[in-house]
Amino acid sequence: MNASPAAVDRPPSQVTVVGAGNVGSTLAQRLLEHNLANVVLIDIVAGRPQGVALDLAQAAGSEGHNRSIVGTNDYQDTAHSDLVVITAGLPRRPGMTRDDLTQTNGKIVIETVRQALAVSPLASIIVVTNPLDVMAYLAWRASELPPQRVVGMAGVLDSARFQRFIAWELGVPPQEVSAMVLGGHGDLMVPLPRYTTVGGIPVGELLSADRLAELIDRTRNGGAEIVQLLKQGGAYYAPASSACVMVEAILRHQRRILPLAAHLSGQYGLDDLYLGVPCRLGRGGVEEILELSLTADEQAALARSAASVKQQLQGALALLEV
Ligand code: APR
Repeated sequence: MNASPAAVDRPPSQVTVVGAGNVGSTLAQRLLEHNLANVVLIDIVAGRPQGVALDLAQAAGSEGHNRSIVGTNDYQDTAHSDLVVITAGLPRRPGMTRDDLTQTNGKIVIETVRQALAVSPLASIIVVTNPLDVMAYLAWRASELPPQRVVGMAGVLDSARFQRFIAWELGVPPQEVSAMVLGGHGDLMVPLPRYTTVGGIPVGELLSADRLAELIDRTRNGGAEIVQLLKQGGAYYAPASSACVMVEAILRHQRRILPLAAHLSGQYGLDDLYLGVPCRLGRGGVEEILELSLTADEQAALARSAASVKQQLQGALALLEV
């Protein structure tokens, strides 16, 4: 039987996941089980990525996927990847802010990006390591790629948390809620109720301002609430899901509009930093940054968030010179 050209499968994409910890291994699992890509999982700890890979490979039959997974400590094995997702680094401990992590994780992100890109020069990068906006900037500079090809995962997660809390409050499925959160992935993030709808209805028409303020607060502390409960490590199921949404948008060229950390060069009056804004995400990375019209209060909140990211960034730029 002759297959038409359209019916011929392209070779599967390959995604390198750097960091075989909680987020990295959960992301690898989702990529495989969604049949999205072959995965190479790399970590600095000997045996860890190999063990996780073997475990995940043994689930292939039960899960009914036919994607491959390799665990390694050698970047050569990651060569020719289409996408590199950086999850390497330390997670936050209770009482530790994202800023405390900047120096340690900054070194790790710069080093891992350089090594991964040396063997996969055509790859795009998704950064997951915190503090996210600063790490995304460092990854971009270390990669020497056009900024469109380096993005950070935070807005999808923050919006998913806001979506979840609103859906619980109103007793609707989360899919009914379309939530929008801008700004840095930190306490100063900017959830936007005006751009958040439930079944198409602006959420402000369904919830009182006080209740909405409480849900916004819980969203801002979404990661910290989980850190407090777990006592060791941070959230990873929802972060891995959010990263998977972004991988899919890129590999399948979905051109979805998602909030993510992108490089700003004048948009929203902000210049030369990574910050969460709505973007159209496709095969080439960020195809477009959408500029929402913000009220004076929203714009001021975004500027405050940006100033805090810039300040953290100043202390980390020297890491690029090593
Ligand atoms: N190269 C490769 N892997 C590294 C390196 C390095 N230089 N340094 C650390 N790692 C690995 C660790 O060995 C560990 O397996 O990164 C992994 C991190 O995993 P976890 O400690 O389980 O952390 P996780 O919960 O996965 O979070 C990772 O994502 O959401 C963010 O805040 C979170 O920054 C953190 C990151």
